[in-house]
Amino acid sequence: MTHTHKTQVCIIGSGPSGLLLAQLLAQAGIDTIVLDRQDRSYIEGRIRAGVLEQGTVTALEEAGVADRLHAEGLSHSGFDLAFDGTRHRIDLAGLTGKSVMVYGQTEVTKDLFDARTAQGQTFFFNVEDVVPTDLKSDQPSVRFRQNGEDHVITCDYIAGCDGFRGVSRAAIPADVLRTFERVYPFGWLGILVEKPPVSDELIYANHARGFALASMRSETRSRYYIQCDVDDKLADWSDGRFWEEFATRLGPDTAANLQTGASFEKSIAPLRSFVAEPMRYGNLFLAGDAAHIVPPTGAKGLNLAVADIRLLSRALIAHYREGSDHHLGAYSETVLRRVWKVERFSWQLSTLMHQFPENSPFEKKMQRAEFDYIASSEAASKAIAENYVGLPLE
Ligand code: APR
Ligand code: PHB
Repeated sequence: MTHTHKTQVCIIGSGPSGLLLAQLLAQAGIDTIVLDRQDRSYIEGRIRAGVLEQGTVTALEEAGVADRLHAEGLSHSGFDLAFDGTRHRIDLAGLTGKSVMVYGQTEVTKDLFDARTAQGQTFFFNVEDVVPTDLKSDQPSVRFRQNGEDHVITCDYIAGCDGFRGVSRAAIPADVLRTFERVYPFGWLGILVEKPPVSDELIYANHARGFALASMRSETRSRYYIQCDVDDKLADWSDGRFWEEFATRLGPDTAANLQTGASFEKSIAPLRSFVAEPMRYGNLFLAGDAAHIVPPTGAKGLNLAVADIRLLSRALIAHYREGSDHHLGAYSETVLRRVWKVERFSWQLSTLMHQFPENSPFEKKMQRAEFDYIASSEAASKAIAENYVGLPLE
């Protein structure tokens, strides 16, 4: 027997993209079903970046999930770039009039789950064999299995919010889909530690031994990263080895304030730039990591996903409220223009701040000259600042 369900928008993926879309549509009275191949506790356990642009904060306010963010988030009006121990502050507030909010993506996800759960809205977790079909028809559907039983959801639209390894992007025919990719020759080793941050603002450091980032989750919890080999194993990195390497890369002046301790989370992530075009096929719309990946330098992954969702929710709301499909028609093109600009910034900051094994001495000099230029030019610093706080939605 197949269980049948009907909704207006079927959302595949219950990460930040899918959850935020569901919430914004719920506020507009649009019915959604959200399904995920994992369950809530697994999704909430994923540790990701923690810097929110103002536009992201606005979207979370519009979704009605910003109370805890305002109570617990840390507003940052600047951050540091460092090269071989020399620090240059990017004064976000002075250069752009804006700041960013430091608040973990894990917390954003929790807040979104709490809101949807409190409203009693429909989720299907632990689903298998998800297949979006009839994408070109005006009644597309999503088939899946759960606990050994078959289900089919018919809907008006499918939102593919199922991340980089999801099924939605793969449902677009190969002769329509184009992908663009760059894989970086290193990874990030990250730790969480219950110690106050080494500095009250973030520090992105390029050192001859590789990149390091000092970030935080609160005034008592730090999130630190170092560039590592893509093939490194966690077992290669004891806490002791991490601290020694991290302190070296920050330089002695900064490291003098470093409080070390036992890490309670440690993971290695690869770095990738990736874009899929188009982000619409028939009545399937892609958003977030399903369509694009940025390397974490600059913390744009979540912010970019939220910008997609803001535009997609507006387009769907215009369809249901005003009967206007103009924004749905423009979605892919509008979103991709912004996506590419954010890809450019994430790639540029990654290229500036890491040690690339293939770099010649000339390229190393170019990196250093670029840093010296940024440190001496307000215009160059401002270009970084306006990207860091977030480009306009359109
Ligand atoms: N069927 C159902 N759900 C799926 C499937 C599938 N076949 N494949 C993947 N999913 C689910 C995953 O389990 C995950 O919960 O889709 C969700 C995708 O979530 P994310 O990977 O977090 O993607 P997105 O919501 O776009 O995230 C945007 O958050 O996760 C970060 O790096 C990401 O910062 C970016 C931002
Ligand atoms: C983080 O706090 O995890 C973080 C912050 C900034 C980045 C990336 C990650 O650019």
